[in-house]
Amino acid sequence: MRSYENLNLIQENREPQRSYYIPYDTLEKALEGNKEKSEYYKLLNGQWDFAYFKRDIDVPEVITKWNKIPVPSNWQMHGYDAPYYTNVNYPYPVDAPYVPDDNPCGVYAMDFILDKKWVDRDTYIIFEGVNSCLYLYVNDEFVGSSQGSHLQSEFNISKYIKEGNNKLTVRVLKWCVGSYLEDQDCFRMSGIFRDVYLLSRDSESARDIEISVDNRSITVSEKDYVIYDGKNKIEKLNNPILWNAEKPHLYTVVVKSGSEYIPFKVGIRDIGRSDIGELLINGVSVKLKGVNRHDTHPTLGHYTPYDDMKADLLKMKELNINCIRTSHYPPSPEFLNLCNEIGFYLVDETDIEIHGFVSRNTGYEYDIENPDWICNQKQWENAFVERVQRMVERDKNNPCVIIWSMGNESGYGSNHDAMISWTKNRDKSRLVHFEGASLVEDKSDVDVVSRMYTRVAEIEVFAKNDDMRPFFLCEYSHAMGNGPGDVWDYWQKIYQYPKLIGGCIWEWADHTVKVEGTYKYGGDFGEATHDGNFCCDGMVFADRSFKAGSLEVKAIYQYMRTKIAGNQLTVTNLYDFTNLKEYKLLWKVVCDGKVIKTGELICDIDPHETKEYTLDFNLPNSCKLGCYLDVSLTSEYEVAMEQHPLAVEIQRKISDLVIPAKFIEEKETIKITGENFTYIFNKHYGNFESIIIDGEEKLAAMTKLTVWRAPTDNDRNIKYKWGLFEDNRSGENFNRIFSKVYSSELKDSKILVSGNLSGISRSPFLIYNTIFSVSKEGEIRVEFKGKVKENCVYLPRLGYEFELPRTNEKFKYYGMGPQENYMDMCHHTKVGIYDSSAKEEYVPYIVPQEHGNHTKTKQLHIGGLKFWAENEFQFNVSNYTSEILTKTMHESELIEGDNTIVRIDYKNSGIGSNSCGPELLEEYRLKEKNINFEFSISQFK
Ligand code: GAL
Ligand code: MG
Repeated sequence: MRSYENLNLIQENREPQRSYYIPYDTLEKALEGNKEKSEYYKLLNGQWDFAYFKRDIDVPEVITKWNKIPVPSNWQMHGYDAPYYTNVNYPYPVDAPYVPDDNPCGVYAMDFILDKKWVDRDTYIIFEGVNSCLYLYVNDEFVGSSQGSHLQSEFNISKYIKEGNNKLTVRVLKWCVGSYLEDQDCFRMSGIFRDVYLLSRDSESARDIEISVDNRSITVSEKDYVIYDGKNKIEKLNNPILWNAEKPHLYTVVVKSGSEYIPFKVGIRDIGRSDIGELLINGVSVKLKGVNRHDTHPTLGHYTPYDDMKADLLKMKELNINCIRTSHYPPSPEFLNLCNEIGFYLVDETDIEIHGFVSRNTGYEYDIENPDWICNQKQWENAFVERVQRMVERDKNNPCVIIWSMGNESGYGSNHDAMISWTKNRDKSRLVHFEGASLVEDKSDVDVVSRMYTRVAEIEVFAKNDDMRPFFLCEYSHAMGNGPGDVWDYWQKIYQYPKLIGGCIWEWADHTVKVEGTYKYGGDFGEATHDGNFCCDGMVFADRSFKAGSLEVKAIYQYMRTKIAGNQLTVTNLYDFTNLKEYKLLWKVVCDGKVIKTGELICDIDPHETKEYTLDFNLPNSCKLGCYLDVSLTSEYEVAMEQHPLAVEIQRKISDLVIPAKFIEEKETIKITGENFTYIFNKHYGNFESIIIDGEEKLAAMTKLTVWRAPTDNDRNIKYKWGLFEDNRSGENFNRIFSKVYSSELKDSKILVSGNLSGISRSPFLIYNTIFSVSKEGEIRVEFKGKVKENCVYLPRLGYEFELPRTNEKFKYYGMGPQENYMDMCHHTKVGIYDSSAKEEYVPYIVPQEHGNHTKTKQLHIGGLKFWAENEFQFNVSNYTSEILTKTMHESELIEGDNTIVRIDYKNSGIGSNSCGPELLEEYRLKEKNINFEFSISQFK
């Protein structure tokens, strides 16, 4: 056994974990809090010498050839080894505590200069994150070692240093026994990926410092301290301003210890649960509008610089997120500082996941009581417990942390009980969460009941049961690709039941690795086992740009709901600590896309309260398309918005007394003519093959009836029932469709087509009759009646496809926009008049897939044609065919077609989150057996 496989050597000479802080040499600097200015702080980040060995046994006594590598970084992002994406499976055998014989090793070296002032005091070195373990040498002497990739390692190096130049050498191994505890679903990467720095300390200064805020006052474990509110010294803290995520008020406590001034940002707040299971922050019932966040950066790997962390948090604020689960390990301490300041509730998670035990035999088995699982093995207890201890001791002074999580997907065993009981004894001011506890009927002592990806109906069962602990969805609404589509339905229940305290969407950002402009995922690096694009599951893209799913989350997490009845607007403030008067409410009445009245309100509404306002507007007696009230809540930007349909009668457009065009029946075709047009209808195929208006051909191909959409990531299960993929038995084969026309006949100036659609090797799934009529002005009317086979799976979508020459890619529509939207993912959009183009409709999902749909449409103007319907239709305009989108595996490989494809759809099924979450809810499936669909096409100039 090698030392790094020895559970008794998971650390050597590491300092006991203390709370995180930076000591300063003056009070002023301590109050300013810029650590780079402290005489006692020396950041060692920078270009270091680096030598990489494929096997640790190849590392020579003396290394003569050095390269350079930046610290912090992951060596896989700098040309050594390769990024490796695996989700559940370990990337090596499940043979704990042993790791592969060939264990790569990176040796880091750098010189630092210390002056006399430093040498006369004590010197400590701190590593904020090293994956997977480190062996530290100073001036060629061994100092100590440590494991726990996302935890802090501190060493006292006083006796190894000297005045002048000092040499630091760090050996980092790719694997160690601790790697068994770090089977988190992400790209696996190695190296020193967080800050490294030195601290100069007084030998008698305090080590661990604890600040508690029980009973709404500040208690400090050291005697000599001063409290400040901003720059003002506070003598006595009466009626303190409390901290919460909306108004994160922070006091500064400066502890004087020896020559050091040690500042802490302190937020006074209390956390509790009510007897009906609510989560209470300062006594107020708070819902956690959360997201899971990994450390991920498309070119830096697990190294996330300060500015990127801050940018993430500001974007989360913008999306109305108030809670972060730090999946699945503690973040860098600077991240916590930012959360204290910007205001987030954190579920701080221990750096433990042992998910790969489920696949140690073939199959996939959560047999967690089996002694194979290291969570049940006594010799692993310390390795489990010391990880939660290091997290709690490091992070305990942070107001943002409200819940300690015992890790992720690690089974549940006696080692967890030891962690839970240690944590509960150590910190009574916060709640303890462990999803794994629920796997065995929740025998544990956790404070919140927690689940992942539970169906909406099932959370309601929890809401009503007699366990009075808060119920938390530590993961839900898997945001992979086009999605998530089911956030709305969860939140209807979460607001309905006090005990449902909210949840965290899986997950914040796509974890991709960007190589030469291309976003890569599992399998692109030749991994021996991998999980494909399961790492591309962020609610924002890897570059943190927003997609429809991001805005959908924002619209559902928003803190205002309104209702309209007549002229009475009911406004509910869902903020927990903010009066709505801090924002401006703008409203407008829009009829047929024209604004007819606007107004502005300042709503003086306390948190969780509702008020009514009378809006001054008159409605017309009738309209053509529809009337809506648009409501928007803004400050610097829009924080909430809603749209309500208003009851105005819509005039009927289609009259039965149309004068038909001239129909000339030929052998295979019917020619339809009028003053400025000639249309050719193909009888054999039951579709238009030519639409010539003013001498110009509008179609680039024959129209067709289709049901396919390029499967979204959330269609990853249903797609096998829809289409023909590797397995040729399961699907209705909608992606290998045959269209059969039984008959096309011209009767009373109408073309009657009857036919079917069938997947290859299957019986027809859709039998239909369509009536096409054309007026003398050239207006085409399509009346479709279809019957879907009884035992058929729900359809992806259904509609007619029009291929137009590419010059026609610009369009205007009256429908839901401006972003793409689907039946269940539409709360971020509004009905209105929008301009767009096929190019603008494109959404760069990493694996190409269905996108760009618009629901609730009444008009679409494109290529000299106006598609319209009395009832709503859905549409999509794209330069990519569904076939190309289905086939292409990377966004960068996608090839535009020659034409622009317009789909005029009866419906397109919803999105859901079945990539990992539950099946699409029934109400969002296109599962009707009898379908009536009508639309018209007119000419326009
Ligand atoms: C969960 C897990 C996450 C992630 C997700 C799928 O079960 O906790 O880490 O793997 O599934 O994306
Ligand atoms: Mg996992």
